[in-house]
Amino acid sequence: MSVLGSLPREQAPVETPAVTPPVHLSLDHTLGLLLDPYGFVQERARELGTDIFETRLLLRKTTCMTGADAAAVFYDQSLFERHQAAPRRLMVTLFGQKGVQSLDGERHRARKALFMSIMTPLGRRRLSEMAEARWRERIPLWAGLPRVVLYEEVSQLLCQAVCDWTGVVLTPRQVPHVTSMLQSLIEGPAALGPRYLRGRIERVQGDRWAAGLIRQARARPERHEGTVLGLFAGHRDTDGRPLPAGVAAVELLNVLRPTVAVARFITFAAMALHADPRHHERIRAGDETFLEYFVQEVRRFYPFFPMVAAKVATPFDWRGHHFPRGRRVLLDLQGIDHDPRLWERPCEFRPERFAHWDGGAFDFVPQGGGDHYEGHRCPGEWITIDLMKVAVTALTRWMTYRVPAQDLRIQRWRAPAIPNSRFVINQVSAG
Ligand code: HEM
Repeated sequence: MSVLGSLPREQAPVETPAVTPPVHLSLDHTLGLLLDPYGFVQERARELGTDIFETRLLLRKTTCMTGADAAAVFYDQSLFERHQAAPRRLMVTLFGQKGVQSLDGERHRARKALFMSIMTPLGRRRLSEMAEARWRERIPLWAGLPRVVLYEEVSQLLCQAVCDWTGVVLTPRQVPHVTSMLQSLIEGPAALGPRYLRGRIERVQGDRWAAGLIRQARARPERHEGTVLGLFAGHRDTDGRPLPAGVAAVELLNVLRPTVAVARFITFAAMALHADPRHHERIRAGDETFLEYFVQEVRRFYPFFPMVAAKVATPFDWRGHHFPRGRRVLLDLQGIDHDPRLWERPCEFRPERFAHWDGGAFDFVPQGGGDHYEGHRCPGEWITIDLMKVAVTALTRWMTYRVPAQDLRIQRWRAPAIPNSRFVINQVSAG
């Protein structure tokens, strides 16, 4: 049974023919997508018996694709580009303007190298240590509280850790405010009404705040030497010129914002530990291999980003479908991670399945697929796993707690997803 009510439904594996006749859904399906972002592509693809179909979204012709073969095509850099591919509502909340997500070719490769350069083994270890210190600092504070909303607390401690890591100085009073600003950017794009507006306002304020940090770092480079902030402030574009402060700010937020978003996966990990105490016990007892499988299964099983968008750069045909230049294409990340052709009983939470996973680049795509350096795959994948491991270790080995009755349902229309109660714990004690 899925965590999202009927989504995604357990399906018998189906063989997709090599060539399927083009399928067109003529109406605009924007509302269907907003109401069911995680099931939208997968359910229609199953009903139509194809991995590709055309529809209209936001009044624009859009091709939707699912399956590992489709992912391999989608991540072919010669066929697709990202410039102006994402809907505007994503740019004005989640991504910001002129960041790495919207670049192509050499400019993308050079900017991406900046992100990849901070993901060294030493850099990763330092971030894990900083997160560990923040967990150890907070656990005794939780011990005195009648209830702790884990998602909120973990978001704040990750905000502190990533600011420590990047060299952004935050006063204790700033921590809740900056955390909430970063959360709003993540929640804005798929929201309707006030949450969307809040995302837009926070994007303007967040960009301004981060641009101020970049300017300070440029004014006193010696103070920021060796920090991520100093590195981003000093980064030069392919034309040899420093990035405009606003663009460097967007890229700095491209590190801070998603690191705080790891709190969602950590909340899901806490749900999974609660759902099956055997997993909790096994990790508490020190099974490191199982910890790795557990974290990977959380990333596969629980919903995060439903899909990614690109635009056709070079017209081509694939499986009987024509992809004209400029066509927006959506790749169904959630559907691929629950595809019964790739994952046995995909709607069951079974960490052991990762003992047999061969590390394919297109079958397990919670943070995108393909190559981290050459393509748009998430550069933060390793630190996401590291931070989740620290968190699951903390939850199982450094503290005990109870989980009171609460509403752990996940609304299928909310993307990115989060349980209604945001996972409340009580009776916390250290050790
Ligand atoms: C919370 C867990 C995370 C999830 C679910 C996630 C998911 C994703 C996805 C789906 C993409 C798009 C892949 C594509 O376009 O093909 C992406 C890209 C990106 N992610 Fe993450 N991410 C996470 C954590 C992080 C972290 C911790 C960082 C910190 C550096 C990060 C930085 C980025 C950046 C900069 C991009 C754009 C890469 C590019 O366009 O080349 N993400 N992420």
